[in-house]
Formats: sequence, C-alpha cells, structure tokens
Amino acid sequence: MKIPVSRPLFTGLEARYANQAIVNGDLSGTFGEFISRFENNFSKYCECNFGISTMNGTTAIHLALATLGIKAGDEVLVSSLTNMATFFAVVYQGAIPIPIDIELDTWNLNPELLEKKITKKTKAILVVHLFGHPVDMDPVLAIARKYKLYVVEDAAQAHGAEYKGKKVGSLGDVGCFSFYANKVITTGEGGMIVTNSEGLASRARSLKSLGYGRKNKFMHEVIGFNYRMTNVQAAIGTAQLENIDFILKRKRDIADFYIDHLSDIQELKFPVEKNYAKNVYWMFHIVLGESFAGRRDLVTNLLKEKGIETRESFIPGNMQKLFIDAYGFRETDCPVANNVGLNGFYLPSGPNISKDELQYVVYSLRDLFLNI
Ligand SMILES: Cc1ncc(COP(=O)(O)O)c(C=O)c1O
Repeated sequence: MKIPVSRPLFTGLEARYANQAIVNGDLSGTFGEFISRFENNFSKYCECNFGISTMNGTTAIHLALATLGIKAGDEVLVSSLTNMATFFAVVYQGAIPIPIDIELDTWNLNPELLEKKITKKTKAILVVHLFGHPVDMDPVLAIARKYKLYVVEDAAQAHGAEYKGKKVGSLGDVGCFSFYANKVITTGEGGMIVTNSEGLASRARSLKSLGYGRKNKFMHEVIGFNYRMTNVQAAIGTAQLENIDFILKRKRDIADFYIDHLSDIQELKFPVEKNYAKNVYWMFHIVLGESFAGRRDLVTNLLKEKGIETRESFIPGNMQKLFIDAYGFRETDCPVANNVGLNGFYLPSGPNISKDELQYVVYSLRDLFLNI
C-alpha cells in the first residue's frame, strides 16, 4: 500500500469547465466567464458580498494587507503556528509580524495573549483558522474594536468552517483563502480574498491587476501587482465549489473514523471541535504527547516504511532563524506553538481516501504504539 497524505477529488466537471475555458480561448486572468462566476459563487458561499481571486493564498494575504494600507514599520499580530506564507505576507509590506502563542487544544492563536503585545505600531490582527478549526473570534474582534485594529483572517485551510454559525472569512475585515492542490477545494494554485466592504473590494481589485486606470487603462492609478488567477483555474474552482459539501462530508467522516478508532491511544492528542465551532478537519493533524515528545521522526518513519505518508506540522514563526535574526524573536516566545510544531503531524486525510486505506492507517498506528 502507498497512501498519500492528500490527493484532490475531481468529478469530471473540473475537466469539462477547464476545457470550455480553453476552447473559448479565455486563458488569462483578465477575461472569461469563470473568473467572475467563481468569485461570485465563492464569496456567496462565504457569506460575503465581494470576492477577488488571486494567484495563490500567499498573494491573497498580501493583497489583503496592502488593501488595508498596512505599511513599513507597522506591526501585525500573527498566530505563530502557521505556514510562513502568513508571516511573509506581512513582511512584503515592510511591516513586522509579531508571533502570538496558541491555545493548547485548538492550536489556534490564544486571544488572551493579544493585548499585552499591542503597541502604538500595531495595526492589525492576522488570525489563522488552523487545520480547519475556527479561531475564537469574539474576543479577537473585541480587542480589535478597543484598539482600532483591522482583523484579517487567514482561512487558507478552513473553507466552509463556521464560528457561531457564521462562515470563516466573513468575520473580520478581509478573509483570505488558498486553493493549493491539497486544500479543501483546489485550482492547483490559487487564492481569493472575500470582504463585505465595497471600498476594500474595489481597492483590492485595482491593486491585484497592476492598478490599471479605469478611464485610461495605461495611466495607472496605484502601484499594483499582477496577482490574477487565470480563467482556466477559475473554471476548475467553479467545478470544485459545486462539490464542496460532499468534500466536507468526506473530511468529517475521515476525522470521525480516526477519532473513533484512535482516541484511546494515550500518547496522542487529537483535534477538537469547540462549542462555538464547526471544524472542517482540513487535514487530520495529531500531536505526540509528553511520553513521545521529540520522537516524531521515529513515528513518521515507521509509518513511511508501511507506505503511509505523513506531513510534519509547521515550524512556528518565533523559531524561524530568519525572523530571530531580523526581528530579535526568541525561540522561547511561544512554547505551546513550539511543542505542537515539533511534535505534530498529519495523517492521510485526502477526500478520496478509501475505507480500506483508513483501516490500514489505523491498524498500523495502533500496532506501532503497541510495539515501539
Ligand atoms: C495557513 C496558510 N496560509 C497561507 C498559505 C499559503 O497559501 P498558498 O500556498 O496558496 O500560497 C498556506 C499554504 O498553503 C497555509 O496553509
């Protein structure tokens, strides 16, 4: 057996729509029916009025920050445990990402730690709905209101997740998504920002496409970027979105299966679903408990020998040498994130994993903990 950590689920509609885009000759990111169709459908899905597609999730976050006017010297509070794309997007604006430690159970930014990191330079809070579980947003939004900060949601891993019945992406000023190949829905590479603000949407649209002039195209209105998603990618995304409920059902079934069959293993910590949350279990991420701390390579290598691919968790921002050198972060700044980052990994959780494959992963993991 060889079980990949993730592979996308296509129905045939993706190829049909992509082919339609190609046959029509609508290849670029400036015209073609699928760009607006995907933007409209996805923003509606996120309960937002506006959607602006981008090349990937990283450019979505950067576009959001640029649109909000985050600038050199500003500080942005960021959940430390994330793909470093979240941190880099802040750095692209010349701003400084300030790592915030995470909660023990959700692995998301701990809102209780925000206030003491706020300075005169703080302009925004960049939350990450990690592994599909929404951040506890009410305290984040209350702090943002109190200190007049923007809230940007990195929902790259959380399409369809809900906080108190509301879709992630719609809770802050701007929500950012990735459609990379392993994401809940994919366009290969791709991203989108969603917002309810017409002003922000219009500015983002302009910045995304080189700030072309509205009257005179080549008299540019702002120094923009070319962050356009192509119409062919948007065609794939439009098809994927039509199947999102099924994909999310599969993700939940996979998570339920793993929890039902593994949760008695004392050496492991499992994802949670808080009262306020609908978790979409983007990837089934688990963490080795204290008795196995520091032995992740041993465990994942034994799984690899059995044909089971895993992926290690992220190395938190406060542990990145790049940032320690540039900003004086200390490795010890976020101890909870460090522990999860060093001892966490995903089990195979692609939407088309079979029952036999799931059973094999469960059997192999149980066997491993009995014999290690
Ligand atoms: C939390 C998070 N933010 C941002 C990104 C960046 O997205 P992309 O790879 O589409 O640029 C990723 C990774 O894919 C991610 O997991």
